[in-house]
Amino acid sequence: MNKRKILVTSALPYANGNIHLGHLVEYIQTDIWVRFQKMRGHHIYYVCADDTHGTPIMLRAEKEGITPEALIARVHNEHLGDFTGFNIHFDNYYTTHSDETRYFSEDIYNKLKAAGLIAVRSIEQLYDPIRNIFLPDRYVKGECPKCAAKDQYGDSCEVCGAAYAPTELKDPYSSVSGATPVRKSSEHYFVSLSDKRCVDFLRQWACETDHLQPEAANKMREWLGEADDNKLSDWDISRDAPYFGFEIPDAPGKYFYVWLDAPVGYMGSFKNLCVKNNIDFDEFWRKDSDTELYHFIGKDILYFHALFWPAMLENAGYRTPTKIFAHGFLTVNGEKMSKSRGTFISAESYLQQKLNPEWLRYYYAAKLNGSLEDIDLNLDDFVVRVNSDLVGKFVNIASRCAGFISKRFDGSLAAGEQYQVMRTFVDAHFASWRPEVIEKAFEDRDFSTAVRQVMKFADEANEMIHELAPWEIAKDADRSDELQRVCSLGIQLFYLLSCYLKPILPETVKHIETFLNCEPLTWPELKDGQPVSDLLLPAGHTINVYQHLMTRIDPKQVDALVVANKESLTQSGGTHSRTRHAERQQHAIVPIAETISIDDFKKIDLRIAKIVSAEHVEGADKLLKLTLDIGTEQRTVFAGIKSAYDPSQLIGRFTVMVANLAPRKMKFGLSEGMVLAAGGDDAKELYILTPDDGAQAGMRVT
Ligand code: 2FM
Ligand code: ZN
Repeated sequence: MNKRKILVTSALPYANGNIHLGHLVEYIQTDIWVRFQKMRGHHIYYVCADDTHGTPIMLRAEKEGITPEALIARVHNEHLGDFTGFNIHFDNYYTTHSDETRYFSEDIYNKLKAAGLIAVRSIEQLYDPIRNIFLPDRYVKGECPKCAAKDQYGDSCEVCGAAYAPTELKDPYSSVSGATPVRKSSEHYFVSLSDKRCVDFLRQWACETDHLQPEAANKMREWLGEADDNKLSDWDISRDAPYFGFEIPDAPGKYFYVWLDAPVGYMGSFKNLCVKNNIDFDEFWRKDSDTELYHFIGKDILYFHALFWPAMLENAGYRTPTKIFAHGFLTVNGEKMSKSRGTFISAESYLQQKLNPEWLRYYYAAKLNGSLEDIDLNLDDFVVRVNSDLVGKFVNIASRCAGFISKRFDGSLAAGEQYQVMRTFVDAHFASWRPEVIEKAFEDRDFSTAVRQVMKFADEANEMIHELAPWEIAKDADRSDELQRVCSLGIQLFYLLSCYLKPILPETVKHIETFLNCEPLTWPELKDGQPVSDLLLPAGHTINVYQHLMTRIDPKQVDALVVANKESLTQSGGTHSRTRHAERQQHAIVPIAETISIDDFKKIDLRIAKIVSAEHVEGADKLLKLTLDIGTEQRTVFAGIKSAYDPSQLIGRFTVMVANLAPRKMKFGLSEGMVLAAGGDDAKELYILTPDDGAQAGMRVT
């Protein structure tokens, strides 16, 4: 077979947050794909690194009273520990804070500059007058200039997907100090993406070829605009001191923006591996390279990988990616991961609670189909599926047959004539078990199809064993040959299934290799016309005594995991980290408001209110219409809680309202008060107040 040379990356995780189950979708997906290719004998390298630069990391280190270097060293170990725990194997796990990444960042920058693609101009930016820093896009929040959604980050809107400059936000505030940012000018460096060379190249690269999945290419068409209407603006790649990163050559006090050197970290990590292992770096990165380069990423960072990155590489004289594989987000039980629900589950806690990482690998594989669709980890389904597929179907085959082989035949599988009979039987009944059927699904990252197929095979094997009933044959001493043959058939089929599942279950299959007394399993290969029986272990092969391979998940383990992650919320002081973005992992510090007197406070008439009805308001994005009973009367209140509550959840509940607020005329009607809710900066993380049991509608809250 033609051996391919492949370099694969997963997105570099920020060096100031821990790895959670959302991150793992990507690393598990990539690891399965890489293991599959390795099993087939291709030369494939999987590299990654920590993404170490930027303001969030600088601020986090400052908060912890340590240097950024000390922070990133600690997090590096934590990340690597988590990945290793989930059997994710990188050929190199490095850091962007490295000489290699600095070298390639400068090199690319210098080449772009020589090509006339770096522009310098003064821009006005938002500046935090309390902390004396320019605010990175994600530290400024406000109203989206395109769709008016509230509390959107400074670089892009999560509601409508628009990308913009933070200065375009309406009513901006600093999420570092809560201050209203001021505008301040400074000189910035730009990559001239609006230059015709970049635009023409990107239009061709991203839209007219198959470098991207169809949905991603469509997104690019939208971002790029029509041929006569370029929508691409130049990309600001510099940040002013203080900044943790690489200083731009010949530009004192100016640093490369973290997103400039992050993808360069792929090259840096690979270069580091090449030096250690004597691999030819240039063969993989020169312009005319015939090696393959794949980036696995989340769909939220497509913009950086499908626009900026190929444009930089192309114009700096390097090869561009073969394909970018974007995936969707993880939901848990059908909802966004949530700390308050305990579904924002850290990789570390999963391992600490002693859940088997291969369960999650299997479940994710069963859900991934190579598209940008989100995948859901339904915790009940997780238990059922793993128990039924892996324990009930797969492992069961070995456990039913191995005992007889060890006890009656000293570990020896059928040989001689019996082996031939078994082969003929396999070709008659299991001719469809050809590796090609599964190969394509693995290659296309359509792991759900691969898993479905393998489980169909496992069903067939179990049905056959059930029909042949070795436990019945064993009762008759004269049928010893038959017993050995039937049990050997079961073990041989189990061996084949193990080959097919190895990319997904590497650790389990390691134990299986010991049990089967085999060399590390490789991907089975059949030429056209070759029968499936050619794949079997040789006649008379001996196996070891069967040891338990996998336990069932006890639902209590999953419950405990959820509880542990709820607890860590209180322990960690409620850090609000719902997405992968380091910047978003910072908790908005809202300063305590100015002191008021008790008389000021008494002016507010807070009342216990019973929610008697709650309904959606047609045409309103954020509002629910509530009817509140406050004992003496009923009030209508339009509350901005739609993103966090379903109306049916609210009816009959007690809450607290401001009863003497001047009525406000709104587009949808008159709002006669306000309900109280606690909340961070995320519309989904909103909690209306509930009094203790016994409180009655109309009681005053003092
Ligand atoms: O979004 C993120 O988590 C980034 N740290 C990913 C960087 S990927 C690459 F470009 F380095
Ligand atoms: Zn928007």
